[in-house]
Amino acid sequence: MNPYDSRTGDLFDQAVTQRQIQPLVAGAVVLRQFATDQAAELVSGIDRVQSQAPFRQMETPGGFTMSAAMTNCGPLGWVSDRTGYRYQPTDPQSGQPWPPMPEPFRQLANAAASTAGFDGFEPDACLINRYLPGAKMSLHQDRNERDFDQPIVSVSLGLPVLFQFGGLRRNDRPQRILLEHGDVVVWGGPARLRYHGVLALKPGHHPLTGGCRYNLTLRRAV
Ligand code: SIN
Ligand code: FE2
Repeated sequence: MNPYDSRTGDLFDQAVTQRQIQPLVAGAVVLRQFATDQAAELVSGIDRVQSQAPFRQMETPGGFTMSAAMTNCGPLGWVSDRTGYRYQPTDPQSGQPWPPMPEPFRQLANAAASTAGFDGFEPDACLINRYLPGAKMSLHQDRNERDFDQPIVSVSLGLPVLFQFGGLRRNDRPQRILLEHGDVVVWGGPARLRYHGVLALKPGHHPLTGGCRYNLTLRRAV
């Protein structure tokens, strides 16, 4: 059943009543608490992935080291190095295929996309970002994918952060939205190429992730 239907405002399940859809702009929504029930499973999935493909700080084409550490799972992984940004089927560090995408990742992404109005989303790439205090992600567009008709599904786990969601031009002033553990942002359609990023993570402790924040970005790359 769709937890966003007429049960909203009902008192019989606190966890359900805290879930809500927050529209950002046409084509973009925050699904508050959409991943909370599966969060422990998602974090176990991250642990399994990172045991095979460890988190690493990638280099940008401009020669900077990204402050967030990254790894990937699924058929394709997003990588950055001095030669550019791209998707590839293998981890450049080991030469091995990226670990398989855990089934709960795929299911959650499909359900979140449907709830946001994008039916049939089947991700073939999941970038996992790990932020420690001070780490951030500058405003950028997700544009290394082949088909911009496919949305982006972005899952927040652990410590909260301020998300910036801007316009189609880098200089458009972004909205700032607090993303907390379990929140899922979906953007697609007219919002697919909007600039976005996160401000520096503040130190803290989360019972499930300790001193960090994870972000899963699920995409259809090809
Ligand atoms: C990203 O855009 O790759 C990450 C966004 C986030 O960490 O919430
Ligand atoms: Fe992004």
